[in-house]
Parts: sequence; structure tokens; C-alpha cells
Amino acid sequence: ELGDHDTYMHKEIGEQADAVDRVLAGRIDDRFATVHLGGLNLDPREARAVRRVKILGCGTSYHAGLIGAQMIEELARIPADAEPASEFRYRNPVVDPDTLYIAVSQSGETYDALAAVQELKRKGARVLGVINVVGSAIAREADGGVYVHAGPEVCVVSTKCFTNTVVAFGLLALHLGRIRDLSVKDGKRIIEGLRKLPGQIAEIMESEPEIKKLAQEYADAQSMLFIGRVRGYPVALEASLKLKEVSYIHAEAYPASELKHGPLALIEPAMPTVAIVPDDDLLEKNRAALEEIKARSGRILAVAHQEQEKADRTIIVPKNEDELDPILMGIPLQLLAYHTALALGRDIDKPRNLAKSVTVE
Ligand code: F6R
Repeated sequence: ELGDHDTYMHKEIGEQADAVDRVLAGRIDDRFATVHLGGLNLDPREARAVRRVKILGCGTSYHAGLIGAQMIEELARIPADAEPASEFRYRNPVVDPDTLYIAVSQSGETYDALAAVQELKRKGARVLGVINVVGSAIAREADGGVYVHAGPEVCVVSTKCFTNTVVAFGLLALHLGRIRDLSVKDGKRIIEGLRKLPGQIAEIMESEPEIKKLAQEYADAQSMLFIGRVRGYPVALEASLKLKEVSYIHAEAYPASELKHGPLALIEPAMPTVAIVPDDDLLEKNRAALEEIKARSGRILAVAHQEQEKADRTIIVPKNEDELDPILMGIPLQLLAYHTALALGRDIDKPRNLAKSVTVE
């Protein structure tokens, strides 16, 4: 089943272009510049009545939810945020009838997410699922949702399912946007961007030899800092989690905007920074952060749409629409985590102390 791959992680990273094809398949409606999501169970009138969106998930699914929340705010202009399901369920949350709750889970069995959904349902909330495993516990409990069709994910750490979940949020945001104030022109722009994703993912995969070399350069780090701003911040969070999980190198993600409020104190040559630098309206701000790090002799690896002068190394990622860029920017960092772990001889598919589905409290 592994074919030419040494691990499921490597196989699953490589499957992402095809996986994204599957999450898009049969859902795009060019006539109305929107998408059809058959299982949503939310008619247009109900969708218009939503005043707020709250997304709940754990680990990587929480990070996908953070990107999803930004997409929903940007494209549908509905206030949206994400919170770890594990925190939400322990804080006696205010459950609001005008809020649409969305539970995110690859397995659909994560106990903390399931318990959050059950509590929400008990209080009369409407809960959708963005889930990979069809018929799983959370899928059964939810009022409707979107299956992400990533296919089976065997490696304990999530890669292709993360990407497909974020694409599914892109579809949901477009759908909600087109019921509300997103123009036909913007709808078409996003559809075009979505269609480009599989080809662009294939392009990213071609930089694997270069990323492998970078991984060998960084494998001796004791600790790494990941930074990003707004759309780039959840990408930094996810990339830092991936590196921790498979390589056991300590990594910490910070919003680039917060550097001067503390973490700059950590910068020195032994503390490399990975910076997410999309070519969007925040490019200059991000460049300024790179300059701050360089001025303190920090090593920088940038993931960007164009070469970054202040960075020691830049991994170039193909540009998509600004709103969809986060889907692509994390992919080279999955490869970086994988190759770092490989260089260190880690048990990549089964990192110590972790389980694929966390069905306990
Ligand atoms: C990270 C990872 C975990 C899971 C988390 C939630 O690579 O795999 O952080 O994302 O345990 O699992 P699901 O998505 O199955 O609810």
C-alpha cells in the first residue's frame, strides 16, 4: 500500500493534489459563481440569518478552523472565530441561537470535539461538521456539514486532511458569501483560484529536493520560531505543530506583529525563524519583521511568493488569490517537518506519545 514511499506521511503529503480534486469534484456551480454543498442542511434563509460563526476542533483541525474562520469573515463578512473544542467545552460557553457552530475533525471521533457538539446540541444550537470520516460519531451527531474527502489518513500526523479541510472551508465561505454580499465577480475569482489549487500543489511537490536540503540544514536546531501575520499566522501555528510532532524539535508560533512584545528577546543565530510571507497587502509589514530578526543575527527561512532579500533562504510558493494562499503556504512546511524528522531518524508515522484518534478526555 505504501508503494514507493517509506512512510504514510510522505505518501499522504504527495496525495494532496488528487485529494483537493476530490473535495472540489461536482461542487462548483459556474452559472451562479457558487458551490453546491449537498449535505449542509441549511437553506438560504437560514444561512442569511446566521449572525456569527464559531468553529471548534482540536490540534490540526483547530488550525484548519482558524483559517476557515478568516475565509468566512473575508468572503461572507460574517464574524467568525475558532477555538479549541477542548477549551470550549470546559468553560460554560454562552450558546447563542444566531450563531452557526461548526465542528472540525478528521476522524470524527475526537472525544473533546464530540463532547462539545453534544453540549451544543443539548442547548439547542445548530451544529455543522467539516469531517473526513463518513458516518463517524461527530458526523452522525451534527445537523449537516461538508465531507472533506481526503481519503484514509494513516499517519498519526495530519497532512492531506488539513489541506482538504481548509479547501472545504473555502467552499463553505464562498457558498455563504454568495448567499450574502459576495459579488459574482469575486465568486468567479475564488472559483478560478480553487481550480488552480491541484496544479499548484503539484508544482510545490517539485521543490521537495530543495526542501530536503533545507531540512538537513535546520535539523540541528534545538528550537525554532514560526511567524506569520493574519492569513499567515494559522499557517505558522500548523507548521510549528507539524515540526514538533514528527521531529521532536521544540517550535513555537507567534503572530509576526507580536514579535516586539516579547519573542524578539529569543532571537540569536541558534534560534532560526520560519516566516510566512505572502504577497498580499501585509507584505511590507512582514518584510519589516524580517528586518528586525536579521538585525539581531537571526537565521530566516521564508515561505513566500517571491525571493525575500532579508531571508537566508526562501521557499517560493505559487501565488493564488489572497484568501486562498494559506492553503498552499503550509505544504512546503509539511515536507520540511517530514525531512527534518527523517534526518533525525524519528518514527514518523507513529510519533512517541501520540495516537491517531484521541477518543479519551
Ligand atoms: C496533528 C494531529 C492532531 C489532530 C487532533 C484532532 O497532526 O493529527 O492534532 O488534528 O487530534 O483530530 P481529529 O481531526 O481527528 O479530530
